[in-house]
Amino acid sequence: MKVLIVGDVYSKLGRASFEKNVKKIKEKEKIDIIIVNGENTSHGRGLNERHYRWYLEQGVTVVTLGNHAFENRGIFNYIEEVDNVIRPYNFPENSPGKGYATFRRNNLTVTVMQMIGKVYMSEENSCPFAKTEELLEKLDSDLYICDFHAEATSEKIAYAHCFDGRIQVIYGTHTHVQTNDARILDNGTAYITDVGMTGALDGVIGVKKETIINRFLRGTQERFSPENEGKTQFNAIILEINEISKKVTNIDTINLVE
Ligand SMILES: [Fe+2]
Ligand SMILES: [Fe+2]
Repeated sequence: MKVLIVGDVYSKLGRASFEKNVKKIKEKEKIDIIIVNGENTSHGRGLNERHYRWYLEQGVTVVTLGNHAFENRGIFNYIEEVDNVIRPYNFPENSPGKGYATFRRNNLTVTVMQMIGKVYMSEENSCPFAKTEELLEKLDSDLYICDFHAEATSEKIAYAHCFDGRIQVIYGTHTHVQTNDARILDNGTAYITDVGMTGALDGVIGVKKETIINRFLRGTQERFSPENEGKTQFNAIILEINEISKKVTNIDTINLVE
């Protein structure tokens, strides 16, 4: 089976690029599962209900979130009712929503989970390593896919080696920059440090560049607004999984600039 995973979709340009390119990829390749990181979908901050429904119309299987999960208050209208929008599993104990989604596809039980890193990230989250051990202990799936939402490359690489062979696909999100290290590790886990971002090419990780330049030059704290003009980038990975061995046979990156 084939799995398409799209990196953080950022606001208006990200949504337009997502719609156009996912349609094309679906026509060209037989995709069985589509996973998207949606933490920046609605104006760069969170995922409102309208945009969640819009993802469903396009055949998205699971939407993952991240540190921006609860920034759009609209999420609270639906997150408890749906089973295919997930926030990091290691968020504080009583956080709204779920940290994983389990479903059947092509006779396999598939679990998509999300963890958030600790390094340069929020202190209140639990250890992603310990929480992953806890979750794997509790579940019994054929295929595990993990969105590791983290800043530090070292934390992401250590996590991948730690769960190599136990989680078939581990991919990083959050930095919005696609890394050039997609590969299959020694024990069979397909890994990339960061899938990247789908949105404006010439902003600063999605935000209008002038706002961020001023922050560095003048210390001004202007409100972030998304870059809604100019070229776009579409960042994703495609995985091929052997349904008999339940192992990943190939991982490819996609980086389209338009
Ligand atoms: Fe993001
Ligand atoms: Fe993030």
